[in-house]
Amino acid sequence: MAEERLQKILAACGLGSRRACEGLIFAGRVSVNGEVVVAPGTKAAAGVDRITVDGKEVRPQQHVYIMLNKPADCLCAARDHRGRKTVMDYVCDAPVRVFHVGRLDYDTEGLLLFTNDGAFSQRVTHPRHKVFKTYRAVVRGVPDEETLDRLRAGIELDDGPTAPAVLRLIGTTTAKVRRVKKKNRPPEEIDASDIEIKIREGRKRQVKRMLRAVGHPVISLRRTAIGSLELGSLPCGQWMQLTKSEAESALKNE
Ligand code: URA
Repeated sequence: MAEERLQKILAACGLGSRRACEGLIFAGRVSVNGEVVVAPGTKAAAGVDRITVDGKEVRPQQHVYIMLNKPADCLCAARDHRGRKTVMDYVCDAPVRVFHVGRLDYDTEGLLLFTNDGAFSQRVTHPRHKVFKTYRAVVRGVPDEETLDRLRAGIELDDGPTAPAVLRLIGTTTAKVRRVKKKNRPPEEIDASDIEIKIREGRKRQVKRMLRAVGHPVISLRRTAIGSLELGSLPCGQWMQLTKSEAESALKNE
């Protein structure tokens, strides 16, 4: 059996990303054949060497892929020190321990992947792979074609210019919003638009910052697809298991 880096084996055992597993090693929580290992780059043979974390033996797992329709008002984190709901509360009945692939904001809904396959997670999130993430945004006002063209070409944000995006105005609508400083007043009805936006990057709050920068702040945001993997009609708050080939459609733009 070929030897591999310990963090790679631990990630294959479902203990988190390779970086998170490096943290376990540096913290002195990992032993190989009874000896605590902290040296970076240590190798071991999965299935031959006895590897333990906090004294418990770990073994490589079958890879599992899960798609959740994330509700708004839940955090993409393992736990929250303020006691808010996290995405882990929705997948606690998954067959094995999984971790979320990338993040959505607290108030963003929609497609969120989970897996115990660290390599897959890296491929989906790394900008090098240029996978399109598709969002539906309800925004204030009605952007004209010139504004949509600016967004399509890429606009300047405080962390640099955005890459070209694909945008489509789906329709106009109305939305009820509350003024920040007048929370006790009834919500007011404003003109709004329903927009589809596809971006290849995954910068923090990117869609919201792009739309705010052109004067159309986001009222609500939902991710509907990653690559050619679509959320479809999965109800909000529910998860479903995907086959490996279904999950891999998240790596392809058709
Ligand atoms: N862009 C955002 O602004 N928020 C998200 O949650 C995802 C993409």
